[in-house]
Amino acid sequence: MFILAIDTSCDETSVAITWNDVILSNVLSSQVELHKKYGGVVPMVAMRAHKERIDAVIAEAIKRANSQITKSQKSLKHRNIENLILKIENLSLRDVDVFAVTYGPGLAPALEVGVAKAKELAKKYNKPLVAVDHMEGHIYANFVRKLKAQSSKLKSLESNKSWDVTFPLLCLLVSGNHTEIVLMSGHGKYKILGETMDDACGEAFDKVGRMLSLGYPAGPLVEQLAKEGDPFKYPFPVPLAKSKELDFSYSGLKTSVLYSLQKISSKGQFTKKQMCDACASFQRAAVEHLVQKTTLAVKSLQAKSYKLKATRLLLGGGVVANKLVRFELRKAMKPFGISVIYPTDGKLIGDNAAMIAVAASYKAKRKEFVKNIVKLERAPGLRLSR
Ligand code: KG4
Ligand code: ZN
Repeated sequence: MFILAIDTSCDETSVAITWNDVILSNVLSSQVELHKKYGGVVPMVAMRAHKERIDAVIAEAIKRANSQITKSQKSLKHRNIENLILKIENLSLRDVDVFAVTYGPGLAPALEVGVAKAKELAKKYNKPLVAVDHMEGHIYANFVRKLKAQSSKLKSLESNKSWDVTFPLLCLLVSGNHTEIVLMSGHGKYKILGETMDDACGEAFDKVGRMLSLGYPAGPLVEQLAKEGDPFKYPFPVPLAKSKELDFSYSGLKTSVLYSLQKISSKGQFTKKQMCDACASFQRAAVEHLVQKTTLAVKSLQAKSYKLKATRLLLGGGVVANKLVRFELRKAMKPFGISVIYPTDGKLIGDNAAMIAVAASYKAKRKEFVKNIVKLERAPGLRLSR
């Protein structure tokens, strides 16, 4: 089944083509440069840019999928899925079996562009449409398979999903707008165990970066500076450390950083050392907050029932690019026998449409299509459920 998925939930115009859960193309057109001067994403600017770029990104996704298919035809051995790909001469929009789109959560005007385009394509080509939750996409970035190149030739279909799926799975989603612990009891079955009550973790990284005039998005730069800093220079407390609840809160930590920086310099002028120490101290507390709440979730699930005992923690969302996040979570999960899984390909960690296509492939298998395509609307405040 060829799937074409669109994600325009924030500031990336992304279109991907997959054969079920195998990526053939995953095109991203980033708007970072457009939003940089505002210090964050401006919804109407994002909408305009999505509108301007969407058709070209779709065309590029088709083009790259075709070149991937041509490569496969030359070098892949005959096996189930390859056989089906091999039959295609020149993939066009007409050959797409299922269209898919992120319909929430995200910025309303930005989501609108992708939703409208997906509806238009599904109607024009008379094909089913799957509506995907963006956060579900971040989970399914861990279920992606790729056609792997070996010594510049595609030799075999190798899975980069090197883990066996046994439910329940525990998921920690950490992005610019979300910080949540989700229990996944089966494909498409989610229960949010805890979520942020105010700022998201990625948002806190971005705001601290802004205090230090690092530009946008600042997450990767904060991580970079933190490497040379002292994580205990500023004793920022770990949020909600004494609470037994599984919710997160990043706004107090962000304010502590602000006050400390104001004490150092009212004009916002800092030495490199001061910046590095502030980043390292903030990052220590921010990551420890993720670790503490995830550990608490594991303990409380185990105490309730052995049936809730997860053996894997799936990570998703842009902040998972952070090496300390992965390292500390792996360390904390080890005593519980829980292995930590995250997308190995950096492009699948942040926003991208391939993760939406893969989530859609599982939904399509369950025949979860949009019943009335004309009536599908963006859902900016969508939450994982069921
Ligand atoms: O998932 P994502 O690409 O978009 C949303 O759905 O929000 O996440 C973007 C967030 C931004 O806040 C960005 O600063 C953060 O992920 N981020 C990082 C790192 N790389 C990206 N935060 C900390 N460390 C990083 N290395
Ligand atoms: Zn995202």
